[in-house]
Parts: sequence; structure tokens; C-alpha cells
Amino acid sequence: MMGCMNRPPPKQLYPQLMELPAMTPEARAKIEADAREHINAGNAALAQAQNDYHRAMIGNDTAGMVAAMTRQRVALGEMESGTAALRALSEGQPPRQIALAWFREQMNLSPGASSVDGPVRPFGISWFHFISMVVAALFALTVLAFGVARHRRSIALVNQLTKATPVPVPVPVPVQRPPAQPPTPQVTAPPMPRAVVAPGRGWIGSLLVASIVRETPHVKTFRLVDPNGGPVPFTFVPGQFLNFSTDIEGRTIRRSYTIASPPSRNSYVEITVKREDEGEFSRFLHDKLAVGDVLQVSGPAGAFTFDGGTADNIVLIAGGVGITPMMCVIRYLTDTSWPGEVFLVFAMRSTEEFIFREELEYLQRRYPRLHVAATVGSRSEGTAWMGLEGPISRETLAHAVPGIEKRRVHLCGPPPMMEAIRGLLGELGVPPDQIKTEAFGPATGLVPPARPAPPPPPPASVARLLDKVDAAAADVSPQQAVGPATATVSFARSARSAPLPPDKSVLEVAESIGVPIDYSCRVGTCGICKTRLLSGQVTMEVQDALTDEDKANGLILACQAHALHDIAVDA
Ligand SMILES: Cc1cc2nc3c(=O)[nH]c(=O)nc-3n(C[C@H](O)[C@H](O)[C@H](O)COP(=O)(O)OP(=O)(O)OC[C@H]3O[C@@H](n4cnc5c(N)ncnc54)[C@H](O)[C@@H]3O)c2cc1C
Ligand code: FES
Repeated sequence: MMGCMNRPPPKQLYPQLMELPAMTPEARAKIEADAREHINAGNAALAQAQNDYHRAMIGNDTAGMVAAMTRQRVALGEMESGTAALRALSEGQPPRQIALAWFREQMNLSPGASSVDGPVRPFGISWFHFISMVVAALFALTVLAFGVARHRRSIALVNQLTKATPVPVPVPVPVQRPPAQPPTPQVTAPPMPRAVVAPGRGWIGSLLVASIVRETPHVKTFRLVDPNGGPVPFTFVPGQFLNFSTDIEGRTIRRSYTIASPPSRNSYVEITVKREDEGEFSRFLHDKLAVGDVLQVSGPAGAFTFDGGTADNIVLIAGGVGITPMMCVIRYLTDTSWPGEVFLVFAMRSTEEFIFREELEYLQRRYPRLHVAATVGSRSEGTAWMGLEGPISRETLAHAVPGIEKRRVHLCGPPPMMEAIRGLLGELGVPPDQIKTEAFGPATGLVPPARPAPPPPPPASVARLLDKVDAAAADVSPQQAVGPATATVSFARSARSAPLPPDKSVLEVAESIGVPIDYSCRVGTCGICKTRLLSGQVTMEVQDALTDEDKANGLILACQAHALHDIAVDA
């Protein structure tokens, strides 16, 4: 073995083959002999290298192992060359071709890659490979071109949006309905203006009606999407609402609707709306709005929120369509597998008015920590009901929510129902500061005591304007006043003034004499009616929409502002 190791390697076989111009019997014999010598030598060297490898492995000599492996490869190559030569001889190939085949193999070339034996081919490769490579290169260039074009378009769009002038208030437009085919939610071109963020008002823009689903005889759910596709262009917290505006018979009407879908599903938002028999906006939504229409929206707004971060369990009490903020919370908490317990106590007029009944039953089966107690005023014909009947009572609450006095409670429903439940919660020992409420309409008596908002001193220009207003006040006829007044409200910008009865808000008086003040919720939560108080003092039952900064700047909510003494506002 040692001898084999030190033996000089046989002369290279393939160069010899290249030198042989033709196959004579002598040449053939010589090649055959050389080939056998290569095979034998390679075989012996391979055996030796294998032994050396094992020895190095046992001795943990990694350098020796690497060297032995290298020798094994050389030995295998020698055997391979000898074997290939023998095979070529047996198949009758000329020696030059045998050598060329070896070189091609060493260079990883295809068998036809030679101008010696075959037709001329591009870059020494086959036409098939050449064409495939050209096609692949063209494809890559096309993808690159598309990518660059898309990038340029995105930059242009971003520039366009960032240069957009913020819109101070939502611009109400009539429902935009395409003339011919009903459009699908996937509108792609031309892109509609996206998010505009107005100070204090949040996002303002358009949402497209993607679907309308009837939930009960008087309630429908409207699914809204971004007309440009993709996720909705704003973020929100479960329990927040959006402000909608539209023109109805030449007047701009604004209303607020809670987002009933959870933020965990961000490709759409849903509002669930009850049709009021005499209601302007809800009838418009129910009777006129169609899939494919576009609505003007701003928001989100509202502090009646719960995302699971501020308590480890929650009690939700809802009446009628007041279920919408609760549904958003429940959907969000179950979507995100919130570990806390959720109690829903829900009252409705009749079984057919049980909004989201199937979904609540489904969620209750899937999430054992969700407890639903529903009570109905009456059973509607054709519906089954084995649950509670009558309004929510003290016993219902105590039974449905054990230890309610220690839990955080959210309450939303018609004002009389909310007032009654507040009383029951008080009897059950729930501290008032553990109760959060949202009214969908005026909620007198359900809110903390009003606090006076001191006005900032009016600037000189405003003081001059106020003098004008005082003079104009004499022009207002007493018939325009609303109820017995103890004070006067002056609207500086409109140069109008009117008596301000204690039971009327600044907004109501403004409306009665045609002074325009925008509004939406009329319950102090949306902030649309923010107005600057120039002089005097007002009280506001709800000030949810006012930030500390707003208060420091003398802003008030016209829909909530009442006064016993003269005031002036910037409207
Ligand atoms: C923060 C917030 C969130 C809300 N979320 C939801 C929600 O998720 N779902 C929902 O359905 N609602 C919600 N609302 C209520 C909603 O904003 C509207 O107040 C409601 O849809 C009624 O609006 P409307 O224009 O149809 O009725 P309006 O025209 O404002 O009328 C209000 C009420 O007065 C009655 N009325 C109107 N005109 C007359 C008349 N001439 N004579 C006698 N009665 C009359 C109507 O029957 C109705 O009951 C929410 C409100 C707020 C403030
Ligand atoms: S109208 Fe919404 S806060 Fe006054």
C-alpha cells in the first residue's frame, strides 16, 4: 500500500488521445493498455486513500481526513478516465472525439457545444438554451419596467395627496351614482381622492357602498369600502363612530353612525342602522342608498371605546340599535381571543328586532367567556323564544352578571332605557365612575353635571364686531326667539343675535334664525359643532368632543351650550 502511495501518477491519458490523429491498431492497443493502467492505479490509490481517511477519522485528524478525501477524488478521476477510454474504444469512437468528450464534461458543456463536430451555435450553447435565456431576460426586463413605473406612480400619488389642501368640513354631495352599469366594489380607475386629514375632525373622504344586508324588518347593515381598494384609509378603536353627510332636498344633513365591524377586519367598515319612520337620514340610507353609491364620511370619533386594554372583564348593556358599539367590541374581543369575560345584556322590543341574533348565538358557542342574556318585549309571530321577557330588571342584571358592582359597565340605548338602567346599576352598587354611556340621541339627565366653560377675552377686532351685533340684535323679531329667554346670544360673524332660552342650545337658536353651524351627533360627541365662545359663560352637559386644547382656546359645543346670561359666539 505504502508503495502505491509513492508511485508517480501515470501520464495524462486525454492529451495523448488528442495527439492521435487516427485510430491505427497500434494506437488502439496503446490506448487500451494506458486505460487499464489508469484504472489499476486509480483503484489502488482509492483503496489507500480510503484507509488513510479512516485512520485520520479515528485519530480525529481533520486535516488528514481532508487530504485523504482529495486523494480519493483524484483516484476516482483516474479510474473514470481509463474506463471512459475503454468504453469509447469498444464503441468505435475516434480518439480525438473521446478526448473532446472529456473536455466538454470537465467544462460542463453540452455534448454539442463544439464547432469542431457540430453546426455553429450561439455562444457555444444550443439554440434552445439561447432562446430560453433571451425570453427569460426579456421577462425580467419587463417586470423591472413595470416595477419602476409603479414606483413612479406611487410617488406621484403621494406628492399629489401631501399637496392637497386640508378640507375644513366634509363637503356634502348628493349620492354619486354611475349612470349605466352598477359598479362593483373593486373600482380601480380613475383613483378617487384618498385621505384628507382635517385638524380636529380626523379623516375626511369617500366610502363606497359594497353591500347592504337586511338584519331585521327595520335594520340594515351597510358595508363600506375604500373606492380605491385596499384597507379602509383610517384606523379606529372598537366603539367609535363615523360622521356622514349628504344633501337631501337641497339641505345638508349630517348624522353619526357607530362602526359595528371590528378594527381587526380592516378591508371594510360596517354601520348598522335602524330606519326611523320620520327620520331624514336613516330613511335616506334605507330607501335610497344602493350598492355602488359613494358616501361622504369623516371621523372616526368618540370615546365610548373598549379594546380590552383597560379592564380584565366587561359588561355591555344595550337596548335596540344601541347594540352596534357593543357588537364592534364583542367582534373585536373574540377576533383577538381576548382572555377576559364579556357579559352582554341586550333588550329589544320583539324577537324579530333581535339584531345579530344568529351571530351572537354562534359566537357564544365558540367563546365560552362570552355570556349573552337577551330579553324581548314580545315574541313576534313565526319566531321562537324561550328566553327572558320584559325590560331589563334589577334581577336580570344581578343574575346575568355575577358581581356586577366590581365590573366596568358600558351602556347604550334609547335615553329612557339608559336612565332606568343607570338607576338599577346604582341600586346594585355599581359606582357611577364605573359606568360609561353613549346616547344615540339627546340624553338629558344621563350625563355628569354641567361645568361652566370660561371664555377667553375677545380680541379687539371681535369686540368691534360685537358692537355691530348688539346694534343688530334690536332687529330680530321676538317671534324668532324660542321659549322664554333670559339671555341673548350674538353670532358675531353673521351679525345676528337672538334671545337664548335656558332650555335651548346655542345650536338650536342658531338654526331658528338661519345662522349656519355644522353639526352631526347633537349629543356632544362628534365635535362637528365646535364654535368659539367670544364672551359670556355657557354650560355643557356633554363635552366628550372637546380636548383640553379646545377648552383653552375657548371652543364650545354649540349643540350642548346653554346660558343664563348674554353670550357671543364666532358663528
Ligand atoms: C354617536 C352616535 C352613534 C350612533 N350610532 C347609530 C347606529 O349605529 N345605528 C343607528 O341606527 N343610529 C345611530 N345613531 C343615531 C343616528 O345618528 C341618527 O340620530 C338616527 O339614525 C336618526 O336619524 P334620522 O335622520 O333618521 O332621524 P331624524 O330626522 O334626526 O329624526 C330623529 C327622530 O325624530 C323623529 N322625527 C323626525 N322628524 C319628525 C317629525 N317631523 N315629526 C315627528 N317625529 C319626527 C324620527 O322618527 C326620529 O325618531 C347614532 C347617534 C350617535 C350620536
Ligand atoms: S353636533 Fe356633535 S358634538 Fe355637537
